[in-house]
Amino acid sequence: MTNFIVRPELGVCYYPEQWNKHLWVEDIEKMKALGLSWVRIGEFSWSELEPIPNECSWDWLDEIINLLGNAGLKIILCTPTATPPRWMITKYPDLLAVDKDGKARIFGSRRHYCFSHKGYQWESQRITALLAERYGKNKFIGAWQTDNEYGCHDTIISYSLSALKGFQNWLEQKYQKIEKLNEAWGNVFWSMKYMSFAEIQLPNSTVTEPNPAHVLDFRRYSSDQVVHFNLLQCKTIRKHSDLPILHNYMGKIIDFDHFEVGKDLEIASWDSYPLGFLEDRVNASEEEKKYYQRQGDPDFQALHHDLYRAVGHMRSENPRWWIMEQQPGPVNWAPFNPIPHKNMVRLWSWEAFAHGAEVVSYFRWRQAPFAQEQMHSGLQRPDREWATAKDEVENITNDLEKIREIEHTDAEIGLVFDYESCWAWQTQPQGQSFDYFELILDYYRALRKLGQSIDIIPAKFPEFKKRKVIIIPGLFCWNKDLLKEIKAFKGKIIIGPRSGSKTNHFSIPENLAPNIPGFDCKVHEVESLRAGELISLEDGSNFHSWHEVLHTSEEIIVKALDGTPAVIRKDNLIYIGGWLDQKGMMNLFSKILESTSIQAYTLENGHRIRKTAHHTFHFNYGLDNVAVMGHSLKTGDILVLDTKTNQRII
Ligand code: GAL
Repeated sequence: MTNFIVRPELGVCYYPEQWNKHLWVEDIEKMKALGLSWVRIGEFSWSELEPIPNECSWDWLDEIINLLGNAGLKIILCTPTATPPRWMITKYPDLLAVDKDGKARIFGSRRHYCFSHKGYQWESQRITALLAERYGKNKFIGAWQTDNEYGCHDTIISYSLSALKGFQNWLEQKYQKIEKLNEAWGNVFWSMKYMSFAEIQLPNSTVTEPNPAHVLDFRRYSSDQVVHFNLLQCKTIRKHSDLPILHNYMGKIIDFDHFEVGKDLEIASWDSYPLGFLEDRVNASEEEKKYYQRQGDPDFQALHHDLYRAVGHMRSENPRWWIMEQQPGPVNWAPFNPIPHKNMVRLWSWEAFAHGAEVVSYFRWRQAPFAQEQMHSGLQRPDREWATAKDEVENITNDLEKIREIEHTDAEIGLVFDYESCWAWQTQPQGQSFDYFELILDYYRALRKLGQSIDIIPAKFPEFKKRKVIIIPGLFCWNKDLLKEIKAFKGKIIIGPRSGSKTNHFSIPENLAPNIPGFDCKVHEVESLRAGELISLEDGSNFHSWHEVLHTSEEIIVKALDGTPAVIRKDNLIYIGGWLDQKGMMNLFSKILESTSIQAYTLENGHRIRKTAHHTFHFNYGLDNVAVMGHSLKTGDILVLDTKTNQRII
């Protein structure tokens, strides 16, 4: 990657089919006046497009595309496949996804299809082809979106008959011979050997836990179905259009490998709902949730921005990513749905731009007075007057006059992330608080508190060269490319707990964890710890949740109070034998940053920084004022400085 320049723009998600036509022209005028450039349409409109099988109704879509386009707005046209209409279920009753208990999900909301269903794959290509043929060369369309939020509402894994057939074929292709599968999975255990692939079932109704190798392969299979489903649409669109294709991913949806889907898309986008996600965070304390209830977690969104920037780099030379849906006010779906603190919509938008977003688009234009999301805010209220976020969006439009472009550059720190590790540790947590995503977020948070900018690196496609520090927490299994990069890397590498503790077939490796060539350390025992149970370390920090008993001849740099090794080192490689608390991580990282001459900061609660090539962005997520170079930032305030001159730009 080299430096790349982004000219940030704003957009909105619009559902013209939900409003009387006489509102369209006025809506469009207001979108323009607000400074929006992009409008996303169509993602749930199948029953409006094709109310009766094979009888399409294009007039409304033609009309709105012309109105939007003639007003100078660029359109993101979506395929409507997240919402198969009712007649589709009559045609293919078995297209419905099946849950863990073997019950088919029913029609009446969305995302009810099973990715493995061949008939639905065909239908999805058919409707995509109709759209692409009609609008592929339309000058007002600027980008395509496939489907909507793969995986939202727990919809990747389906235990349907189609999935069963597909899984058996997938296994046969992977292992060729049933004996190979038996060996790889360790099926000598509990008399689980199979005589043919046709005997294998889906791992949902076993008496006690299924074989983890069986589950992991099923997770891989399920992820591949998403990649395949998405690719079918991309290929269809590309026959008629050269425009970029994107998908809107979600927060903490880890059931499919986004890097693999990203290989087929020019742009990654994601849907950012900071207050909704905060309420959903599994390891956050009540106190934390209360403190940040109107600002959102200061690191959760940022981590996703960096993750999706990496996903958006899988196909495009420079990373390309957007926020497709930005929360503008209270949402309707979290356990509690507070109103954002004043200025947070502006802060969230700028945090995204600071991480490289090309577009921030708000969900949605107007709050709907009917159906499931009537309690979800928009930029307008249901009475067609402006909602609170409008003023903040207006402010961003003004800000963008001051910063028309942002040059981005590689971060000095790379954090390795891996979807298979998410699946592995969900399959075998070994302790209820072991959540891989939370582990990653913890490392990320400690680095952010030290004022760092971070790049996420996919474990399957590693590239370390440009960094000074690489961090690899909880990676379940090494791959050849990763080991090669580790060996060649001259900077510091920090490897976190559970890394290398399994083979690719979900067994314990012969050498035991962490199984790093040339590094003399064996994990003899592991233990998971209940809440409040701590292993205290000599530097005043603690391990919680997870602790490993290390046997090593390498240098011990931090000991537990009982004298056993906690953090060890050989040359540039450090291994951490437990889940360090924030204090421990920050102690360790501060020393490493110092030794690699990376500038570190000690930020006050809720204060965060992001650096780009020429700008330093300061954000205040905290409830107290923060002082930065003579400026006082209130909650929700942002400060953008020219990095060289320290002059305030915003
Ligand atoms: C997203 C989804 C939108 C809308 C929104 C509400 O997950 O893509 O269609 O439901 O959530 O917050």
